[in-house]
Amino acid sequence: MGRSLKVSQEYISRVKSSLQRNGYPSQQALADDAGFSLSTVKNFLNGKPIDHLNFIELCEKLGLDWQEISKTELISDDISLENSPFITGTPITHPRYFFGREKEVKRLFNLLKRHPLQNAAIIGKRRSGKTSLLHYLKTITTTPVNLLRPAQKSDWLRYPEHYQWVFVDFQDSRMASQEYLLRHILEGLEISLSGDCNLDRFMDIVSSKLNTFSIILMDEIGTALDRYSQLDDDFWSSLRSLGTNQTRGKLAFILAAHESPIELSKNTGHDSPFFNIFGYTTVLGALTETEALELINSSPISFAQEDIEWILERSQCHPFLLQILCREKLWSLEDGEIAEDWKEEGLREINPYLYLL
Ligand SMILES: Nc1ncnc2c1ncn2[C@@H]1O[C@H](COP(=O)(O)OP(=O)(O)OP(=O)(O)O)[C@@H](O)[C@H]1O
Ligand SMILES: [Mg+2]
Repeated sequence: MGRSLKVSQEYISRVKSSLQRNGYPSQQALADDAGFSLSTVKNFLNGKPIDHLNFIELCEKLGLDWQEISKTELISDDISLENSPFITGTPITHPRYFFGREKEVKRLFNLLKRHPLQNAAIIGKRRSGKTSLLHYLKTITTTPVNLLRPAQKSDWLRYPEHYQWVFVDFQDSRMASQEYLLRHILEGLEISLSGDCNLDRFMDIVSSKLNTFSIILMDEIGTALDRYSQLDDDFWSSLRSLGTNQTRGKLAFILAAHESPIELSKNTGHDSPFFNIFGYTTVLGALTETEALELINSSPISFAQEDIEWILERSQCHPFLLQILCREKLWSLEDGEIAEDWKEEGLREINPYLYLL
């Protein structure tokens, strides 16, 4: 979700009573009229953040002045917890802490900024930065510039507010259930569906209701192919049909995996044409030296030139290795250490990941 708005605490009861005043017998009636999911309407009425465009639309339906009753909720709830610029282990979810990949980001947005939207696959070894890149695509164009680094490019799309992004993490085992996954996608697309949700009903409702440019990001697709038997070839073929024939070029898929979609499907015994629709594939390797230097120089305490060179050489500009070595150097500076123990510690820490080089 990009910039979000929520109803200020003091206006909640007024907003709730406006439902009846405007002739809506129930929350579901408002959801149906606006074409949103019930949970979006519930969140709105209970003062939880929702996408700002949806917020404005609901206010219009209820005759409310959105500027008067709203409070801006910035994209990350936890930005104040991010004290260190060096994040090791968990994916980067806030774009301010994501570095480089300019070439890949440019090409990916080239596929998404024109009609019809086109599909892409991001391939990379473990810890190469796949999940971080998916999050970056989803957030960079709608994060307020004051939350980005100075000069960080974010105007990749002409109308970023007209795009919807759905993130599917196949490491989440709930996605093994076809119904759960389809509901998760519908929720992300802000399409409500009451009653059972099966593949046929999903296809019908998405093909008739999808009017916004929408991108479904699928992380760890290999896990789905390997282990989730409900997601069979019919399922994948239906998704292909949805993207290519039934949504008027408004839907694209971006996958992240350890190998190319075609190899993956072959290696896991699948045989669906879904895996042939990825016309652009990028393999994640090292950052450029300029990008790596930007990451290193984001340290709140500057590093000596010789340390910078050592970090560049040992990491060979791979972002995960850079992050670990920079973290070690920063901690040693913060602790006022003069010895070179941080190098030893850093080498020990990066040792299991030298396959990235
Ligand atoms: N563009 C980037 N900028 C800064 N750090 C990055 C970037 N990409 C990756 N990293 C670093 O690499 C680590 C691993 O990134 P991420 O989790 O995105 O990789 P992954 O390929 O999804 O890994 P896995 O295959 O284990 O899921 C992050 O914790 C971060 O330290
Ligand atoms: Mg990942």
